[in-house]
Amino acid sequence: MKEQIEKLFAELESLKAATAKEAEEARVRYLGKKGEITKLFEEFRNVDREMKKEFGKKLNELKQAATAKIEELKASAETSSASEGPKQDLTMPGEPLSLGSRHPVSIVRKEIVDIFRKFGYDVAEGPEIEDDYHVFEALNFPPNHPARDMQDTFFVSSGHLNPLLLRTHTSSVQVRAMEKMDLPIRVVCPGRVFRNEAISARAHCIFHQLEGLYIDENVTFADLKQAILLFAREMFGPETKIRMRPSYFPFTEPSAEVDVSCNICHGEGCNICKGTGWLEILGCGMVDPNVLEASNIDSKKYSGFAFGMGLERIAMLKWQVNDLRHYFENDMRFLKEFSTAIEV
Ligand code: DAH
Repeated sequence: MKEQIEKLFAELESLKAATAKEAEEARVRYLGKKGEITKLFEEFRNVDREMKKEFGKKLNELKQAATAKIEELKASAETSSASEGPKQDLTMPGEPLSLGSRHPVSIVRKEIVDIFRKFGYDVAEGPEIEDDYHVFEALNFPPNHPARDMQDTFFVSSGHLNPLLLRTHTSSVQVRAMEKMDLPIRVVCPGRVFRNEAISARAHCIFHQLEGLYIDENVTFADLKQAILLFAREMFGPETKIRMRPSYFPFTEPSAEVDVSCNICHGEGCNICKGTGWLEILGCGMVDPNVLEASNIDSKKYSGFAFGMGLERIAMLKWQVNDLRHYFENDMRFLKEFSTAIEV
């Protein structure tokens, strides 16, 4: 038996297998039901008592060595067959990779940001989870203003003086810009906003806005009007006219809403402008002195204007998609409509 074990050790030493099949055959030959090593284990039963210890140890070593060797042969056979060369015909035509496209809201945001960059504005962003101070208090919202109500605002925490909430407008970024930036400030702030509204074709609980802010010495309402007119012409075409209607926002005084002439019917009246010839695009005004002072800006020396617009609204006017829900449902059939608008 001793010689037999020695002989098998030597065989294992020089054992080779070119393929996984050969390695498997070797396993059967040595370790299979009728394999040589298995047979030795059977013979082991008849070995004399006093020799059992010595042979048992040797046999176990032999079995372990055989198992390890065969594993090794199998692994190397697999890797070498993998490197034999491609099994696929590399000259076959490839699977087409379809290119994604920008989301319509992103397209509009980029267009607007690019226009204001040309006018010398920077871009600033702020947190979506904000505090009451930046969304309301610093913007001159009186303590009991209905916009703070649970009806409109998603609160993240409540019960203390300055609760956390999901910002309801990007005007909060104005406040952060005034706190951080050196004067003069010229900045646009695009971002996502949240309101507790029932979802319908005309309202959504998530949408996007872009806020603008310009603060310097001697900024007047005429500057505001000119900035908006230049923007509207860049965005909607050189023939575009604007009109301003008096309005109210807590953070601006005076405040206005801006309409652009309908670029679909050119003032004739159509169903997009509901027969009026005008489309509302944004709210704006001169920054209220209380707002400047809340951020430590001297309202005797500095003045400024601000404006805010909804990006889905601008996208709706641009492509006449009149159901807001399309912008959020990620329906590929809708998104693909904008693939030609991609820029590299
Ligand atoms: N924050 C306003 C809103 O969400 C939009 C707005 C109006 C922003 C007038 C302004 C502004 O900066 O001056 O409805």
